[in-house]
Amino acid sequence: MKIITINVNKGGAGKTTLAYNLAEFLKQKHRVLLMDFDDSANLTHRYGHFTNLNETVINLFENGDVNPIHLKNNLDLIAGHNTVEQLKERLNTRRQREIIFGKWLAQNEKELIDKYDYLIIDTENDEGILTQNALIVSDLVIGVAEASKDSFVALLDLKKFVSELNQDFDVQANLAFVANKINLSENASKELLEELHEYEEYRGYLPRRTKLADDTPIIECADQNLIKQLTAVFKEVLS
Ligand SMILES: Nc1ncnc2c1ncn2[C@@H]1O[C@H](COP(=O)(O)OP(=O)(O)OP(=O)(O)O)[C@@H](O)[C@H]1O
Ligand SMILES: [Mg+2]
Repeated sequence: MKIITINVNKGGAGKTTLAYNLAEFLKQKHRVLLMDFDDSANLTHRYGHFTNLNETVINLFENGDVNPIHLKNNLDLIAGHNTVEQLKERLNTRRQREIIFGKWLAQNEKELIDKYDYLIIDTENDEGILTQNALIVSDLVIGVAEASKDSFVALLDLKKFVSELNQDFDVQANLAFVANKINLSENASKELLEELHEYEEYRGYLPRRTKLADDTPIIECADQNLIKQLTAVFKEVLS
């Protein structure tokens, strides 16, 4: 079972869009558990509104008693919740609070390995306690940037943060960079790609397209070129 976290400390770069489309892509051949660690619960809302706490990250972190929601063939979800902000405050007084999720994974390891090939975690644009819990257990962290200076700087900050966590917790998360909302006729997009090409973590880019803002996963849309482009980036990210 491979654990993948999508994060960058920059709002609106495309974390949720990437997590959603990666999960929908992988579920064609693999069993996927999506997890929504963001208090805005944008990813969860793409599938519905779930308020039962034992289907959410609240219970996962509070008492470990959580039942994933079955969304469709090969795809389950542990939902986000709009009280995640309060959860984070409560966790602030817990000992070993960075490894609560890691302990839950260890306690449920057999069941999880039996049921899933991939865990995909969408996070908030922060370096907060839920994000740290996710980064520490990840095999792969995907950082996503749109064409702006802030977004690129946020990717470099993520690289530093992952490297620090790897050292502090003696783990080995790999890092992949993906550029998003790219329009090759614009200078800002071209400049971002030029800068990213200097980094071994860079895996490719997704174009700016309204279809990527839709609630339909790209693998189900009619645009074969876009499906090909997305597939190529995901293959690079997963290689
Ligand atoms: N490649 C793209 N082309 C066009 N629109 C996009 C693309 N990727 C994302 N969007 C749109 O940009 C907005 C931000 O994307 P998204 O919600 O995925 O970002 P995020 O990093 O998860 O944001 P947040 O930090 O708020 O969680 C959304 O409205 C989304 O539909
Ligand atoms: Mg998001």
